[in-house]
Amino acid sequence: MSHTQDVSNATIDKLGFDPRSLKVNSQDINRELAKNYISASDNDIESMLKELGLNSLDELFSHIKDDVKFSEKIALEKGLNYDELVANLDTLSKKNNIPTNYLGDGLPQYKIHDIVPYVCNIRGLTTAYTPYQPERSQGTLNTLWIYSSAITALTGFEAINSSLYERSTCLFEALKTGVRLARKKTKVLVSEAIYPQDRSVIETNAAHTGLEILWAPINKESGLIDFEITKEILTTNKDIAAFAFGQVNSLGLLEDVDALTDLCQENDVSSIAIIDPILLANKGLKKPSEYGSDKSGVTMIVGEGQHLCLDANYGGPGLGIFGIRFNEKNKNQIRQTAGRYVGNAVDMNNKQCLAMVLSTREQHIRREKATSNICSNQSFVATIAGAALLAHGDQGLETKLGISRQNTQYFLANILHLDGVELAFNAPYFNEVVLKINKPVKDFINSNDDIVIGKDITGRHGLEGNLLKISFGDLHSQEDIDKLINVFKNNFTGDENADVFMPDLPEKFLRTDAPGIAQFTLEEVKAFYDKCGELNVSPDDAIYPLGSCTMKYNPYVNDWAAGLKGFTMAHPDLDDKYTQGTLELLYNIQEDFKSITGLPGVVTQAVAGAQGELVGIKMFQAYHADKGNAQTKNVILIPKSAHGTNPATAAVAGFVPGKVDGKQVGIITLDADQRGQIDLEQLKEIIKTDGDRIAGIMVTNPNTAGVFEENFKEVADLIHSVDGLVYMDGANMNAIAGIVSLEKLGVDACHNNLHKTWTIPHGGGGPGDAIVAVSDKLVDYIPGTQVEKLSDGSFKKVRAKKCIGDFHRHDGNVAHKVRAYTYLKALGQDGVVKMSQIAVLSARYLFNKLKDVYPMLPLGADNTPRMHEFIITLSDDMFAHIEKSGTPKNQIIAKVGKLFLDFGLHAPTVAFPEVFGLMIEPTESFTKKELDEFCDVLIAIKNVLSDSPEVLQTAPHFTPIKKVDEVWANKNLKFYTELKELWELPSDEVSPKQLRLNDAIEVVEMIRKKHREIKEA
Ligand SMILES: Cc1ncc(COP(=O)(O)O)c(C=O)c1O
Repeated sequence: MSHTQDVSNATIDKLGFDPRSLKVNSQDINRELAKNYISASDNDIESMLKELGLNSLDELFSHIKDDVKFSEKIALEKGLNYDELVANLDTLSKKNNIPTNYLGDGLPQYKIHDIVPYVCNIRGLTTAYTPYQPERSQGTLNTLWIYSSAITALTGFEAINSSLYERSTCLFEALKTGVRLARKKTKVLVSEAIYPQDRSVIETNAAHTGLEILWAPINKESGLIDFEITKEILTTNKDIAAFAFGQVNSLGLLEDVDALTDLCQENDVSSIAIIDPILLANKGLKKPSEYGSDKSGVTMIVGEGQHLCLDANYGGPGLGIFGIRFNEKNKNQIRQTAGRYVGNAVDMNNKQCLAMVLSTREQHIRREKATSNICSNQSFVATIAGAALLAHGDQGLETKLGISRQNTQYFLANILHLDGVELAFNAPYFNEVVLKINKPVKDFINSNDDIVIGKDITGRHGLEGNLLKISFGDLHSQEDIDKLINVFKNNFTGDENADVFMPDLPEKFLRTDAPGIAQFTLEEVKAFYDKCGELNVSPDDAIYPLGSCTMKYNPYVNDWAAGLKGFTMAHPDLDDKYTQGTLELLYNIQEDFKSITGLPGVVTQAVAGAQGELVGIKMFQAYHADKGNAQTKNVILIPKSAHGTNPATAAVAGFVPGKVDGKQVGIITLDADQRGQIDLEQLKEIIKTDGDRIAGIMVTNPNTAGVFEENFKEVADLIHSVDGLVYMDGANMNAIAGIVSLEKLGVDACHNNLHKTWTIPHGGGGPGDAIVAVSDKLVDYIPGTQVEKLSDGSFKKVRAKKCIGDFHRHDGNVAHKVRAYTYLKALGQDGVVKMSQIAVLSARYLFNKLKDVYPMLPLGADNTPRMHEFIITLSDDMFAHIEKSGTPKNQIIAKVGKLFLDFGLHAPTVAFPEVFGLMIEPTESFTKKELDEFCDVLIAIKNVLSDSPEVLQTAPHFTPIKKVDEVWANKNLKFYTELKELWELPSDEVSPKQLRLNDAIEVVEMIRKKHREIKEA
């Protein structure tokens, strides 16, 4: 049996649930309490090793040279048991001491609807992967459809993608879209009045890309964009592609969005509005689809949606809202945008359903020509934002907004008579105000420890005076506001009866219609999302074999820790003295990852693997620029088998493929040798001919065929010999963590996807998270903040010496750092190694059992040891046999993937990195019995392909919808529906659970029978 831990009543009390009751599937397995979350027992491990002819887990790694392995144990502490873990995280969260605050400023704070924690506990939704298999993902797709429909209702925009990282990256993506739409123009204009953090992100992203950002200045008197100067800039610079401005600017003031939109139209530039979705509620601000004197609206919208459904969480996960028009007048612009869209679809029976559409713009298909490198997005935040918007309905949102406005007005009415306190500007505001006071703001803020009265923005945008920004939501009670007023009255005096001036809110700023989101009861919304959860499958229950995605068990305790109020209520702008718990956690995880990777520097700001890659490549550029080589180092080498994000990232960073003086610049693709490893001979040749131009290389290790790159160190030495840098895509760290030292391998930068190896849930496509570790050469360039431990034991945020800027408006997906940290604390020094060992053991055991059933890719490399994953294919004879039954060769692999759904499983990764391959990664989370049952399924699939290949035409057979007609979906694009009522969700013909309970041979019979029925109908 596995090592199931005990838990005390005190722990159960703290948790609010009993982890002993979390048994999964028919086998009564409790993965939650299994030591290191490894369900396999010692007997399982022993017998798998025996079948492989090995004596120890160490032998699984004997083909990797000792000179790249850690010679000592990694410097993590000992793993904690469940009781210790819960106590540890509880204590840490209590080291945060969160005062009532009025910070906001780009991360507003509102009350969170009760539906949110409920949906956060639906495991079918939290733990599922991106809905690439629509027949088994209608649950996630429906939740994202609700999200995009609700944002459509609020904004009037017909196409809302299913999220980007957060507002500032969204803004950058929109600016790039503007450039693509304008074709030859390379400049963009951005309001100087955006949040300084957003400015930092777009400037960091734009560096070395050729995109030039011009700034529309603020009029120092009004606090608004200076219209006349902006007009002048737009009329004299004919190469400006897009102009971005906030509906509410960083001073809380309402811009004249109609005039700014008109200006864009007159000058033929795309207009990008930065919006706040809550402010667009009924009786709120004008919707962006109606800006402009002809009410035709702006071209694109971007915004932040975190506060729709989450507390501040020290800045993340955020929710990047992006929208573009999709109507009779405008159907093509969407093709230039970034991100995943969910659209209307039909299945082969013409049944209405949903699917992801327009994916031919994305990195997994277009690689370096993709519109963006973003892969994992913030999907689950979109899911809960959608649920919250439904549960609020128009009415609920209007109430929230009404309270926020009322709090603002009440506060001002009671303090503006005070001498030394005045509104800094006379322009209209909604629920954020900037006051000019007659003393240093810092002193005033520090005069009171119980309430943080606002944010010191003195000096922002070069404005004069002592400026204090105060933001209001619906979190504050009347009593809170009275306390705030008293703080002012204690510091300033004035005539209570004096008249006070508060600017009007003219109608031209307001929306004229209701968004149209009906109100549903909490019970109705809960039932709908419960059913959505049932339509997905989860790694809780069975192997979820998506290779490269590491679909392992996601501990409940991680979610509990991330939900502790001490962590969730922390606003990133709070002084360090209030957030010592979060800073200690960030410091510890930063140091732990230095140990895990063996590298001396760590970036915690990136929110996904692809963004980690970008962080790395941007640091490469800074390193070369520092040496004066920014222009000459113009090539990144990438193996053919790389994930699409690698070439997409290189291009996004500025390595756009092309020819200069007859030479390839941007990206040079490397081939693989017969064993699937980098072709050293080709590399040596390139070093000889083009060495001086090589900025770096990006290599996935172990690679996507599950093979450890045995020549990695030699590759790194060759790259270093020409002063290039080495990026290791660490998506597959689950195979080597704690065992291989990246420093010894010669790595200069590597991202760890926290949503793969480090157990944060995939959320139906995101949010992911990443930690990027870097070598000595790059530590000075680290973006974002680092946490330093001071001699008195306290923690402080600092920036690296030559910090390259920011990739997130705050400090990244901090709530996910809590999850990953909780996992690391449970595993400790030995657990991390065990995790990798069992992940490799499980994959190698499966590989060994299946290598005589299926040909393995690369062909002829069966003796090359596989690590955590492997790729199966079919023989030429089998392809021919299936083709004869009526399925064209280019469709066979995708359809074989659908057969997995018939067994109650998710499909493996299909057609990547090999078009005729299925990539399988079991992870360390499953027992030998589960691995054996999975083998039985694969054998059954092989048999059914031999005996009845025609069943592929009708697969999958038992899912709630049948094979989706993706061609129809892409021809009949529609991205939203009216949210007047909730629709009936489809039901499984046979549930995944039932299918898994059946013997594989029985399922084969069911498949054949169903196929006959369909054909006869
Ligand atoms: C090998 C590899 N690299 C990079 C990525 C991108 O990571 P993310 O989705 O976190 O951006 C993935 C994601 O599937 C991957 O498998």
